[in-house]
Amino acid sequence: MSKNVSKYIFFSGKGGVGKTSMASTTGVHYAEKGLKTIIVTTDPAANLADVFQQKIGHQVTPIDGVENLFAMEIDSKKATEEYKEQTLAPMREIFNEKMLAVVEEQLNSPCTEEMASFDRFIDFMDDDSYDVVIFDTAPTGHTIRLLELPVDWSKHIEESAEGSGQTCMGPVQNIQDSKEKYDRAIELLKDEKRTEFIFVMHPESSSIRETQRASKELREIGINTSSLIVNGIIPKEECNNPFFKKRGEMQQKHLKEIQQKIDLPIKKMELLDDEIKGLDILRNVADKLYKEAV
Ligand SMILES: Nc1ncnc2c1ncn2[C@@H]1O[C@H](COP(=O)(O)OP(=O)(O)OP(=O)(O)O)[C@@H](O)[C@H]1O
Ligand SMILES: [Mg+2]
Repeated sequence: MSKNVSKYIFFSGKGGVGKTSMASTTGVHYAEKGLKTIIVTTDPAANLADVFQQKIGHQVTPIDGVENLFAMEIDSKKATEEYKEQTLAPMREIFNEKMLAVVEEQLNSPCTEEMASFDRFIDFMDDDSYDVVIFDTAPTGHTIRLLELPVDWSKHIEESAEGSGQTCMGPVQNIQDSKEKYDRAIELLKDEKRTEFIFVMHPESSSIRETQRASKELREIGINTSSLIVNGIIPKEECNNPFFKKRGEMQQKHLKEIQQKIDLPIKKMELLDDEIKGLDILRNVADKLYKEAV
């Protein structure tokens, strides 16, 4: 990974499979290689703060103890306020109170909130001050919905432009200005040289099905999955009692199935005897996960 073009990495997968853990581990890995790295989450139950054991919140925050590493937890309420303000500010100069009230009213729709978080998120794809931008996305369905939105928006803009000229996100002109930004972002999302989509999964049938489903959904919007992380594998040496032996065999069977069914590079991560939080553990996990990388 070179220092001159920024690279985007998305983590996807079923709830609880280890997306935040693997995103954080990956962040530590790249930052320690000297690349300026940020981890961004739009997960409303953001827990980057738990993982890094420090306050993060809705602003870019340097991570204590790791040079080059930053994190931000996008708060949809705050993102909405910022987005509304950004939309209204240029209009204050030219519109009267009455017209402003109309726009404000329109900005109070639920889709503004959805759009605002995505907008903040996309800002990082329009920002070349980081070498690596890591998105610890919300569970798959939500992620896909966010990714699909711009496609709908462009349709929405065209339809609205033909009608009243108003949309739920404010006047058409305003959205059209953002559209270029979204188009650039979508292009980047589809550019395999710039963007990686990593699926995290457990070696279990439900996880395999979900990964296949979600990766198909992405493919339908023109995005290829880059690689898989199979997380939570019970170490062989621990499979010496009947319970773990059986579970270990179940996992190995599914691991084989994954290798046969899904033609993608796979990284394996063992189940640890602790949660993945704190820099010591993150560094340790990063060494294991990226041991083959130079
Ligand atoms: N290999 C592992 N060994 C031990 N614990 C793990 C491992 N991977 C993840 N965990 C733990 O499992 C829990 C869930 O992981 P994590 O929060 O990363 O999942 P997630 O996919 O981000 O979940 P959500 O979908 O809720 O955002 C955390 O407590 C994490 O520390
Ligand atoms: Mg998470």
